[in-house]
Amino acid sequence: MLEEVPILKKEIEEKLSLITDSKGLEAFRLEYLVKKGKVQVLFDRMKEAPKDQKPILGKELNILRKFVENAFAELKEKFESAEAVQPTIDLTLPGRTSSIGSAHPVYQTMDQMINIFTEMGFSIAEGPDVEDDAHNFDALNFPPDHPARDMQDTFFIKNGENLLLRTHTSPVQIRVMQGMKPPIRSIMPGRVYRNESINARSLAEFHQIEGLYIDKNVSFAELKATMMVFAKKMYGENSKFRFRPSFFPFTEPSAEMDITCFLCGGKGCRVCKQSGWLEIVGCGMVHPNVLRNGGIDPSVYSGYAFGFGIERVSLLKTGVDDIRLLYENDTRFLNQF
Ligand code: DAH
Repeated sequence: MLEEVPILKKEIEEKLSLITDSKGLEAFRLEYLVKKGKVQVLFDRMKEAPKDQKPILGKELNILRKFVENAFAELKEKFESAEAVQPTIDLTLPGRTSSIGSAHPVYQTMDQMINIFTEMGFSIAEGPDVEDDAHNFDALNFPPDHPARDMQDTFFIKNGENLLLRTHTSPVQIRVMQGMKPPIRSIMPGRVYRNESINARSLAEFHQIEGLYIDKNVSFAELKATMMVFAKKMYGENSKFRFRPSFFPFTEPSAEMDITCFLCGGKGCRVCKQSGWLEIVGCGMVHPNVLRNGGIDPSVYSGYAFGFGIERVSLLKTGVDDIRLLYENDTRFLNQF
């Protein structure tokens, strides 16, 4: 029986060398270290051994048991510490790619519009989003009872104080006129705010580009030509547009320019309210009162002004038929531009 001890030890050493994880180690424990395990079985069989062999056999078996227990404890610790860090490093996982952003479609449109006007010689000016009544309304020749002053349309910052979120970029015209002498050739891009219900055609917060041109002998023909050059550059040589008479307190005469509806091509549909046309810009010759409020003498100078809604221009350009999509920031939508 004594000779079985080194044979079992050899077997155990071989098994130990093959264990690579805690699953294998557990199988090893069940084979050698439990009550019915191979080491204990030898202990149990000690009674079969000849009497004179018993002390030495007992000693050898104890050494073997210690050896197995130590080896087991060592491997257990090794696997536990390795497995504790393992989940954080899985080298088989694919790498994480970071997605590259791009300019928002509204800002892409704004940049395109700015490029077209700066090529024509316009410079860029900006004004504050929080305006006072005087710049947003009074100086632009709005009468005191104009409906746009109503709480329905304008976000006032504080009741009783004259501060409000500008409802259009036109107040920047006043600031530009007050800040420089003619000739003036400026565009004024920016964000504007209106207390409107949100639907497919309108938002409470959107963008405009204002334009102002002041010099001696400026005519309506120049305004019309500028608008036509813009429309052709933005929408292509073959795009169709029309001018309609309109009304704004700050221009006289006033007009609006329409472009053929992108959705129906002019046949009439829900987007263009069956007219076949979509309005993209309001414009006109700057009212003498507005020139005066800007510190410019209307008997010497004249000028034209215009105001585009950028979202509207963007929808027309891209064929998107719901303005709200522009601001949901769904990357599946934004990635298309
Ligand atoms: N401010 C106008 C609006 O928000 C747009 C506009 C119309 C601007 C005519 C102008 C203009 O400068 O001449 O609807």
